[in-house]
Parts: sequence; C-alpha cells; structure tokens
Amino acid sequence: MKPTVAPFPTARMRRLRQSDAIRRLVKENTLTTNDLIWPLFVRDGTNIEEEIPSMPGVLRRSIDKTIEAASKAHELNIPAVCLFPYTNPNLKTKDCSEAWNPDNLSNRATRAIKAEVPSLAIMTDVALDPYNIDGHDGFWDGDDVQNDRTLDALVKQALGQAQAGSDIIGPSDMMDGRIGAIRQALEENSFHNVTIMSYTAKYASAYFGPFRDAVGASGALKGNKKTYQMDSANTNEALRLIERDLLEGADMIMVKPGLPYLDICLRAKQTFGVPTFAYQVSGEYAMIQAAAQNQWIDGPKVMLESLLAFKRAGCDGILTYFAPSVADILKDT
Ligand code: PBG
Repeated sequence: MKPTVAPFPTARMRRLRQSDAIRRLVKENTLTTNDLIWPLFVRDGTNIEEEIPSMPGVLRRSIDKTIEAASKAHELNIPAVCLFPYTNPNLKTKDCSEAWNPDNLSNRATRAIKAEVPSLAIMTDVALDPYNIDGHDGFWDGDDVQNDRTLDALVKQALGQAQAGSDIIGPSDMMDGRIGAIRQALEENSFHNVTIMSYTAKYASAYFGPFRDAVGASGALKGNKKTYQMDSANTNEALRLIERDLLEGADMIMVKPGLPYLDICLRAKQTFGVPTFAYQVSGEYAMIQAAAQNQWIDGPKVMLESLLAFKRAGCDGILTYFAPSVADILKDT
C-alpha cells in the first residue's frame, strides 16, 4: 500500500499530533502485558535472592523465591516465565547428563511453579551449556560442537522438561536438525500440546555477556560459538532458518538479540506471518540499566520505548528482564 499525502496545507501531519487524546486515537502500536515473557534465573538452596552484578535489578533465586516471582508475574498478568538454571559447577560434566535428570533444577522449578500457579505458562531452555564442563550448547570435541551426537541429548533434555510440565520448549542451542528431532519425540511420547519456540535466528553476539555471568557459564566457555550461532552480517540466512524450523515443527520463532536485529524481526513477520518473538538480551538490558543508574537517560521511558520498538517491528511478544517493571507501569495505564 502506497502512502498518500495531500500537499500542504491540505494535509498538515501535525494535526494528528496536537493533543494526547488525538495521539491516543491514532496510535498504531501498543505494548501490553500480554506481550511479555519474563526470564528467571534459578539456583539451588532456600530463601536465596542474589544480585547479578552485570545485570542490576535481576536476581538469581532459589526455587521457593522463584515461586514467589512466578506468582507475582501471574498477578501482574504476565502470561509466561522462562527458566534458566544456574547449575552447581560440580554438576557440569563432559556428558552433560544433568541436562536430562528429571530432578534437575529447571525441572524441579517447573513442577514447583506449576503446583502453585498452574495457569502461568512456563518456557524452558534446551541447550547443554548450563551442564557442560566446556560451556558450549553442544558436545565439544576440542575444536567444534558435535552436531548429530548432541541431538540425542537435546531430545532427552526436552522430554524431561515436557514431563515436568513445561508449556513452551525453547531450543536455544542452534544445532541443525534439533526442531525436527524434538518435535518427533514429543509426538511419540504423547506431548501433542507442548509447543516449541525455536531460537531460530540466534546470532553469535557479544550482547550475551552478562547472561553468561548470570548462569555461571562465562568461565567454562572454551573458544566461541561462531560455528553454530549466526554471523551478525547475515539476513537472508535467518529467513532460510525460519522456514526450515517451521517445516520441522516449530510453533513460534524467535530472533535474538532483539533491538540490534529489529530488521530480522520485521522481515520474519512480513515473510511468514507466524508468531514471532524477540529476546531483549542481557547486554541490551545492562546498557539501559547502566545509563539509567548514571542518570544519563530516563530509565523507565527508555525501557518502554525499547519494548514498543519490537511491536513496531511486528513481534508478538518479547522476552525481557524488564517484564515485571513494565507490567507494573502498564497496569496503571
Ligand atoms: C544459551 C543461552 C544464551 C542466552 C540464552 N540461552 C547465551 C549464549 O548463547 O551464550 C542469552 C540470553 C541473554 O543474553 O539474555 N543457550
């Protein structure tokens, strides 16, 4: 559709900006609490909430405190939380078997939240990095990840999560073939309604730095993730990956990081029209918080503006560490 504008002064574009009431009437995009997924970092122990220095305002919580956070999310009308385990370093091994332990931290937290707030959707992360002594998302042979051998492990991990009650399986590992393998296993095990949100266009990004501190993976990581995460120079590749993941059985797709890759969000939505999500990652959060703490920017306003950008780019939802703060503001609007 070609925009048409009459010549001045027939058209004065400022007419529609003259008052709050008129501006509200012609607003094209709106952020609501329905758009939010809140990522939570879970650790062992009880009654623990610890700060993550590189993510001011974000906490690692023991399961009891995670239940409280989940209840708060539910009260704030946030539809979903996403769990990330901070795994005890003693449980990290070469074979990553803690990933499919039915009683690992993530699965225990899922069951505990489901028991307390059953209608809150729970998303869980499929990738080996929290359990891998080498810090990678797949098995590491000293030089590269071993794609095909990793698939079996990811399938076992995903089935464990589905068994624990996860509603949304989020494969963030970027191995080839994982969506098809997980979807087939879910169907074969009668988890017909468990959804998959594929981390489809996940870039090898420096914006993940604070997250790796949060889950304790920074020290462990050998080398980098460039042989499996995308090159930040690429766009067309993202569209091919999305098409592939949809054909393999993904219900929803994700672009990650978010704001630096807004062009990918827009093209994804325009091309496929499927539920499209963005992850406003740890580094994006940290930059806004750092500037806000220095009073260089107005934190809450920049937070809202950054999230509205995702709506403009066609996203159906955003994974964001700001979820509770933004929901708190939105409930009064
Ligand atoms: C790893 C994973 C990462 C994030 C989510 N899952 C980091 C990575 O790939 O190294 C990043 C999230 C963030 O930065 O907020 N499977």
